Amino acid sequence: MKSEMAAVSENCIMEQRLNPLTGQSEWIVVKLQSESEVDKYDDFGALNERGGSLGHTLYLDMLNDVERNSAYDQAIRKVVAEGAHHVLDIGAGTGLLSMMASRAMRDAVQSRQLENEGDAVIASRVVSGKVTACESYLPMVRLARKLLRANNIGASVRLVHKRSDEMEIGVDLSSPADVLVSEILDSELIGEGLIPTLRHAHAHLLSPVARSVPHRAVLYAQLVECDYLRRRCDLSGCEAEVDDGLRLDVSKSREWYSGFSRAMHVDPLVSHLKVLSEPFEVFQFNFCEVPANHREHALNVPITNSGNVHALISWWKLDLDDEGTITYSTAPAWTREGIVIDGEITGDNVFGTFLETM
Ligand SMILES: C[S@@+](CC[C@H](N)C(=O)[O-])C[C@H]1O[C@@H](n2cnc3c(N)ncnc32)[C@H](O)[C@@H]1O
Repeated sequence: MKSEMAAVSENCIMEQRLNPLTGQSEWIVVKLQSESEVDKYDDFGALNERGGSLGHTLYLDMLNDVERNSAYDQAIRKVVAEGAHHVLDIGAGTGLLSMMASRAMRDAVQSRQLENEGDAVIASRVVSGKVTACESYLPMVRLARKLLRANNIGASVRLVHKRSDEMEIGVDLSSPADVLVSEILDSELIGEGLIPTLRHAHAHLLSPVARSVPHRAVLYAQLVECDYLRRRCDLSGCEAEVDDGLRLDVSKSREWYSGFSRAMHVDPLVSHLKVLSEPFEVFQFNFCEVPANHREHALNVPITNSGNVHALISWWKLDLDDEGTITYSTAPAWTREGIVIDGEITGDNVFGTFLETM
């Protein structure tokens, strides 16, 4: 999730690396032991050096995010109370959402048994649901197995070490699931393969009327002027630092970085940026529907402040339940930057096309 997150917390980060043997990207836990390693992050928490890594995430921050966890727990309880026989958890990680689903199913059974107390026949017919979970990253699978056992949930969750698109009904799942739970979102919302994963799940793993936690997501954005963000994507002036006889032509650096996006906390930048538009909705994403491979959204954004558009910052909001009463948002933290334009605004509107694609 949220790769290349900013501030270094507890000096421990998850780092996504390319495995040269398998060609696959995988996540490893990296402990930053020395000051110099912590110094790889600049004052705003962005990574200064890339090395062989593809991205960083504060997995532990995510697990400690009480607001996120409690929103998921409430929404899972709600969907299970409305009736769920088989929950599929895609991207189980530590197994947290599977444990929530298993607990919600056990509680739902107990409360139905209490309601039916005295009617032994009905009570005996109350069947507990099942949870199938999949996780592609082996160290996480091992950790999840330990945690499921430690929480006495081992038997009620079937954990499969596979990518969801390798799973099959009759092999990995006994039947199509009627509830999907997942948290395979990144800071761009759909960047972690959400579209192909959901397309496969709806076609092969879920019942046609399956519900999902989260139910829907909305991506928001805002145009800003921010010299710090501009400088991260504009190398003009850096030639002077090269003193080994080689001359790097950086005159095209703005072109190279055009449309480049990076996940980072924008909060520390607040006093360094000027907002040029109100936040606007870019697109909505419904997890209960088969997503299209590619959609384009043409938007006209009214400008509220004059200045130079250096970046587009964006964030998303989840409606965890279908009524939109249980929500979670990454605003204003965990947003991203993407340099889109570099020029003075002369009119009242900026027109742009946003791509939602796999
Ligand atoms: C952001 S973590 C979420 C973990 C856990 N569900 C939670 O909410 O705490 C996402 C996990 O999904 C796994 N993942 C992503 N896409 C997957 C897929 N299609 N099939 C199986 N695992 C996947 C990643 O390896 C990662 O461990």
